Amino acid sequence: MLTSSLTFAATANAIRYCGAEPVFVDVDSATWTLDPALVDTALATLRREGNPAKAVIAVDLYGQVCDYAALSESCARHEVALVEDAAEALGSVRDGRSAGAFAELAVLSFNGNKIITTAGGGMLLSDDPAHVRRARYLATQARDPAPHYEHSAVGYNYRLSNLLAAVGLGQLRMLDERVAARRAHREAYQASLGDLPGWRFLTDPPGAVTNAWLTCVTIDPAAFGVDREAVRLHLEAIDVESRPVWKPMHLQPVFRACRMFGGEVAARLFRDGLCLPSGSAMTDEDRSRVVERVKTVR
Ligand SMILES: Cc1ncc(COP(=O)(O)O)c(C=O)c1O
Repeated sequence: MLTSSLTFAATANAIRYCGAEPVFVDVDSATWTLDPALVDTALATLRREGNPAKAVIAVDLYGQVCDYAALSESCARHEVALVEDAAEALGSVRDGRSAGAFAELAVLSFNGNKIITTAGGGMLLSDDPAHVRRARYLATQARDPAPHYEHSAVGYNYRLSNLLAAVGLGQLRMLDERVAARRAHREAYQASLGDLPGWRFLTDPPGAVTNAWLTCVTIDPAAFGVDREAVRLHLEAIDVESRPVWKPMHLQPVFRACRMFGGEVAARLFRDGLCLPSGSAMTDEDRSRVVERVKTVR
């Protein structure tokens, strides 16, 4: 199964859980999401080698929405399923469609760090009733229809409890407000720090209004004078947490043996990328403190 190297480990772990082999593909340097041309090359190469991919898991990283027009066309041509990991992208929209609505199967996360949360758990989305029936069956220990407990497949306990679902419904009412708050953080950071030499912000891809889940930048040390790690440590010294961008999967010890198409872009984004404090509850004063501190790092 193909997926983006630049993602959280959960995406690649899911491939391994079902006994498949992850094949990683690099991202586009402007959008940080799967490079559709490289996906097409990877699908064609694997097919030519007699080991065609079964699926592509596209990741809507940091709230970005992938170029699904290109990815869908490529997947359809190669007869490969397309799955959308929209864990970080609830509330993002591209070409009038919401993140999670682009592939035959998509997932959302309601983990504690997401834009809305149920403390843990998530949701599978599909328009296809057969997929939904199969997912419900597998997620509830694969109980066959019988008065006794009958099982013809290995199932899972992957339910979101009713109690947590109720929390999620309450949270959902706040989604628009949270997206607005996160977008406002990104705009304010950009207004204050966007002119710093070597700083480049991750912005909405064409036709998209994203949830700006985290405000992400790359810092070119040659232009700025110090690297992203110096900025991160300078913030940490006053108890402000920022984080490096996801470390690519092809550089992770657990996935080192996996095949990789490209990789230089993801590696560079990891080297130079920083996620600034972006919580929905952050105040203007909190943000100003981050900005003022960054300005003193050199
Ligand atoms: C891109 C991505 N995929 C998958 C997940 C996994 O979601 P969960 O923690 O709800 O299992 C996360 C975050 O946790 C994520 O960021």
